[in-house]
Amino acid sequence: MRALCSQACASLSIPILLSILTCMIPTRCMSSPAMAAYSEDAPDKFTLISLKNHIALDPFGVMSSWNDSLPFCNWTGVRCSRRHKERVTFLNLMDHQLVGSIPASIGNLSFLQYLYLGSNGFWGRIPPEVGRLYRLKYLNLSHNAIEGEIPPNLTSCSELLGMDLTGNKLTDNHLQGTIPAAVGKMSRLEFLKISGNNFYGNIPPSVYNLTSLFYLDVGNNRLHGEIQPDIGFTLPNLEGLYVGRNSFTGNIPVSLPNATGLGLGRLVLFKNELTNLKDDAFSFMSSLTNCSGLRLLDISMNQFEGELPPSVSNFSSELEWLILGSNQISGKIPRGIESLKGITRLDMSRNVIMGVIPENIGKLHTLLEVDLSHNKISGAIPASFGNISQLTRLSLQENSLQGNIPSSIGSCRQLETLNLSSNNLTGTIPAEVVTLPFMSISFHLARNLLNGPLPQELGNMSSLVELDVSDNRLSGVIPPTLGECIMLERLDLGNNLFEGSIPSSLSALKSLHLLDLGRNKLSGQIPKYLQNFTLLQDLNLSFNNLEGEVPYDGLFRNVSAISVTGNSRLCGGTEELELPPCKIHRKKKQRTLEFVIPLTIMCFLLFACFIISLIRLRKSGSKRPSAPSIKEHFPKVSYFQIQQATDNFSSSNLIGEGSYGSVYKGILGEERMMVAVKVLNLRRKGAFKSFIAECEALRSIRHRNLVKIVTTCSSIDSKGADFKALVYEFMHNGSLDEWLHPKEDQPEVTKSEVRPDLRNLSLVQRLKAALDMALAIDYLHNQCETSIVHGDLKPSNILFDHDMTAHLGDFGLAKFLPSASPDNCSANQSSSTGVKGTVGYVPPEYGTGGKASMPGDVYSFGVLLLEMFTGKRPTDGMFKDGMTLQEYAKIALHGRVEEIVEPSLLQEAQAHWSHREVVESSRAHFHGENVKSSRATTAKIDCLIALLRLGVLCSLENPNERMKMKDVATELSEIRAKFHGERT
Ligand SMILES: *[C@@H]1O[C@H](CO)[C@@H](O)[C@H](O)[C@H]1NC(C)=O
Ligand SMILES: *[C@@H]1O[C@H](CO)[C@@H](O)[C@H](O)[C@H]1NC(C)=O
Repeated sequence: MRALCSQACASLSIPILLSILTCMIPTRCMSSPAMAAYSEDAPDKFTLISLKNHIALDPFGVMSSWNDSLPFCNWTGVRCSRRHKERVTFLNLMDHQLVGSIPASIGNLSFLQYLYLGSNGFWGRIPPEVGRLYRLKYLNLSHNAIEGEIPPNLTSCSELLGMDLTGNKLTDNHLQGTIPAAVGKMSRLEFLKISGNNFYGNIPPSVYNLTSLFYLDVGNNRLHGEIQPDIGFTLPNLEGLYVGRNSFTGNIPVSLPNATGLGLGRLVLFKNELTNLKDDAFSFMSSLTNCSGLRLLDISMNQFEGELPPSVSNFSSELEWLILGSNQISGKIPRGIESLKGITRLDMSRNVIMGVIPENIGKLHTLLEVDLSHNKISGAIPASFGNISQLTRLSLQENSLQGNIPSSIGSCRQLETLNLSSNNLTGTIPAEVVTLPFMSISFHLARNLLNGPLPQELGNMSSLVELDVSDNRLSGVIPPTLGECIMLERLDLGNNLFEGSIPSSLSALKSLHLLDLGRNKLSGQIPKYLQNFTLLQDLNLSFNNLEGEVPYDGLFRNVSAISVTGNSRLCGGTEELELPPCKIHRKKKQRTLEFVIPLTIMCFLLFACFIISLIRLRKSGSKRPSAPSIKEHFPKVSYFQIQQATDNFSSSNLIGEGSYGSVYKGILGEERMMVAVKVLNLRRKGAFKSFIAECEALRSIRHRNLVKIVTTCSSIDSKGADFKALVYEFMHNGSLDEWLHPKEDQPEVTKSEVRPDLRNLSLVQRLKAALDMALAIDYLHNQCETSIVHGDLKPSNILFDHDMTAHLGDFGLAKFLPSASPDNCSANQSSSTGVKGTVGYVPPEYGTGGKASMPGDVYSFGVLLLEMFTGKRPTDGMFKDGMTLQEYAKIALHGRVEEIVEPSLLQEAQAHWSHREVVESSRAHFHGENVKSSRATTAKIDCLIALLRLGVLCSLENPNERMKMKDVATELSEIRAKFHGERT
């Protein structure tokens, strides 16, 4: 009977339940004796069910265990008291993406000590009934969408030790002013975290009476006024103080280091209007040496002044962040800085620091980021920077540095951004420095006195987005290898002594937004390909020796976007340029005849070529399903050579097993070339066809983001059986699948060579890989002679080479699409048979007999995109009962993207932008709960939102509604451009 009733209760609709709850001891329930007995028996079960019914969305189904098959004390996240068997003491539903409101009845869980509902989507207000939880010790409602005020009734929770309300939409109560003064009544409070809300006004004086407080975080609100000077004395246990990103004024509380001494570990004051006492010579800094546990010091973006005391080097050896940027700090970088053994971020930018950078800075091997820009630092750049192998960012711009750029900087292999602009550097640019493989953000050497050529090794920095060497004395030709940096968006070579013509290889730089070649000695013509750079907004070619016709199309139509003045021999262009017309146009009429004749001949020749190629196409079309045509294109290798290369197909060389065979790594021939050999299992049905398909596809295409086939082997093996193998360039960095899911078993690549230094792919790297793939697929679909459908896009088919450029591989399921000419349809016979692919990535229409198609590839690409940025496979166990990866992403697009993206992508934000970030990025650990960092930069989130939206749009159910691959590539390139624009 009881079971029946509870079932009935659980199945009641929310409005009915609400009416039950509002009458507290509801008459409706009273009318059923069983129900009444039940709620008396287990009042907490009744409350939990009401909580469950207030949850509208539970994407992971975590509350599915909340049913009668288990005692309610065993439900997910619930624990009961040992002594009082049916009373809930612990409720933890953190980080499950639940959406709903908190019912007032929560106040009935009168034995509750721990209430953790953080990192979900709870909205509405904190019910004042929470104040009835008089045994409550910890309350965590962080990172939800809770509004309104902190209810004054909460202060009845006199046992409360910790309260975390970070990252909501809480506001001040307009009648009472600011953070309720009553918070000060919770006298046992040790932990108070209310950052990232909309609180306004002063910190109420009563907060300074919470003598047990060891952690106070009020950062990122709209608070102002002074921080009480005696805070160190009134809160002697303070270990972490976070007040960053408010408008606090007045002096820095000197009592802090003095009174809290050993305990103070994190002091984060950035972005306020705090000052120090004018005549104390910045003694505050010296006194921080008393804090032997100091790990984080961020006083940036305030109004501190005075000399940096040498005693800075006596700071705790545990110090990780020393962030002093954007103040008025003077003095020198102390020589003793080498004793800060654990430091990862050193930022003294935008101060008035003088003197030299001490050579022994190179002993700080843990450094990841160094920013000393915008100071008055002189002397040479220490060569010892080369010893800091982990360094990802080095910013020394806007100083008075002299001497050469040390070539040792080329040893900082992880460097992503290097800025040495606006100094007095001399000498040449060392080739070592322009070969850094991860240099992906910016490379700035502008406004120095550098001479000599631009090293051609530059082409190795193929991920680079920004290159600026303007305003130097660089000479020689523009190296054609620059055309390999195809990610470039800003290229500024202006005001140097470059000569020669603009290389044709630059036609590959289609991502350019800005191109400045002005004020050089360049000669020759303006390349026509610039007309096709659709993203270019700013082109400067002025003051060179360029000649000939200015193009008319594309960007050249917009006079305000281009500058060609100061080239005396240019002609043509749009009328607004007011250049003399080119001769050809002026004499048009007279020359008509001269043109007509060659034109006729050319037309005839073109037509003849067309006919011939049509005939050849038909011939090759009919030949397509046979292998021999491959011979002409690749030098063949023998079975014996492959046997040798793979050490007789030894299992130690086996790197993967695919659907139609095994893949071995090997060393081929006298050139000892590293290769990957796919040996087809010809007993497998369809393997031969897949061999042909792949040969055919790879034969006719060439693109930097497709794996390159080296050769093929069609032979007889040692036992006399048919043997077929494909030999590809070896991809040193494994597959995307291994990078995305490093620990799990690989479904296809079982024994991959996972590198020991394998680290997580950053957002920048993922973005680049995604764009690489979009370009490769767009190429297959739209730029090949005959459109090719890949048919099996998935992470294990995407491979990374030595410099992490992504290549699309495995064309075993590739199909040629029928061309416009109906006669050619015969070449397409394979696509009419059942289409295979990989579960999770196959579009729904293939299952219902649809043919391999371009929208099918777009679908798989969409799934791939979602997987890349959420870290979840489409086949993950959580996707069942109609929930799919696409649906999951779609739901999260309503303001919850932070919670579904691969967590490391958000953490990474802290490494790059933390000084601009909210204080909680430094993560105090609240009772071991995995509280997510609240806000990465908006740029980052915006970028992720755009990516997930694109993934969802690509993987729509209806093939006709999906985007075209060309548009996908454009969109991705724009997302990337916007992201790089915003983060710098
Ligand atoms: C419920 O949890 C308790 C304590 O953890 C355990 O002993 C018991 O076996 C569980 N009951 C069920 C039905 O799982
Ligand atoms: C809030 O506290 C007041 C005073 O203690 C009490 O009268 C009132 O019932 C409480 N409200 C709720 C909803 O518990």
